Amino acid sequence: DWTMKAFRAHEIERIRAQVGSGRVICGLSGGVDSSVVAALLHEAIGEQLVCVFVDTGLLRAGEADQVVALFRDRFNIKLVHKDASALFLSKLAGETDPEKKRKIIGATFIDVFEAEARAVGGAEFLAQGTLYPDVIESVSFTGGPSVTIKSHHNVGGLPERMNMKLVEPLRELFKDEVRVLGRELGLPDEMVGRHPFPGPGLAIRIPGQELTRERLDILRAADAIYLDEIRKAGLYDVIWQAFCVLLPVRTVGVMGDSRSYDYACALRAVTSTDGMTADFYPFDMAFLGRVANRIINEVKGINRVTYDVTSKPPGTIEWE
Ligand code: XMP
Repeated sequence: DWTMKAFRAHEIERIRAQVGSGRVICGLSGGVDSSVVAALLHEAIGEQLVCVFVDTGLLRAGEADQVVALFRDRFNIKLVHKDASALFLSKLAGETDPEKKRKIIGATFIDVFEAEARAVGGAEFLAQGTLYPDVIESVSFTGGPSVTIKSHHNVGGLPERMNMKLVEPLRELFKDEVRVLGRELGLPDEMVGRHPFPGPGLAIRIPGQELTRERLDILRAADAIYLDEIRKAGLYDVIWQAFCVLLPVRTVGVMGDSRSYDYACALRAVTSTDGMTADFYPFDMAFLGRVANRIINEVKGINRVTYDVTSKPPGTIEWE
């Protein structure tokens, strides 16, 4: 009978057979999939693995530190941590179109990743956290007519460009199975149970206006409070994804005895099993009120909070 223990042992053998004494580079995003790939490869080939973590400046609060603490300090994995936030922001300057932002981020990511991979001496193999649904999706894309709702950013195109062979140990797994494997490999629950986070990061949660460090900082602060309250309420694991969106509108408010004129933000939370369809989460009003109060009191720059009650379809989970 099929168990994750057996899968793990089998995959480790398969990786060793494929890679031999070659080197493997793995892009770590801080998400569940790439983290599990890194942990699995580290177990299979140890020092032959080098991980590259590109900090786009579009990540959530504390994310870069968490990745370094877990992989470099605790797992002892060779890890390159590249802070490329200034480059990403300069490339994105003035851009507000969702698709163009995604393309810029995807292309910049590949450039930075490629440069870092060369800097560590290159490798014969590239490891990716491709899951079974990704495999099916890319097959169906080449089939009938398809409409691109959002062009998802990943490191596709990189292996050919860098002449690398792919190592994709999660190709047969669904997300929930990846989580089981992650636990089996000793990854902490906070990492394995993490909500999905899109490649373009916070860039697609600031719709309709130019990305600036200031706006990203405001969004990051609000987002951290929202997730903190969700965890405290014991709701993190029943929600598929929850995040704030910084809206491109300023509204009037009163703060003490003066007038404020600041951003509004929207809270989003959905349940889902695969991200393809989703329902908005029915928080109780007291919870929403608590989150709104904290955000408005603690985050300078936001004076109004709304809750998004759109399901998917007709909405998408992200706002752009
Ligand atoms: P949507 O917004 O299309 O999102 O309902 C479905 C799931 O995909 C994530 N998402 C992305 N992931 N690159 C990614 O890696 C992207 O460009 C991207 N856009 C959306 C989204 O967070 C949700 O989990």
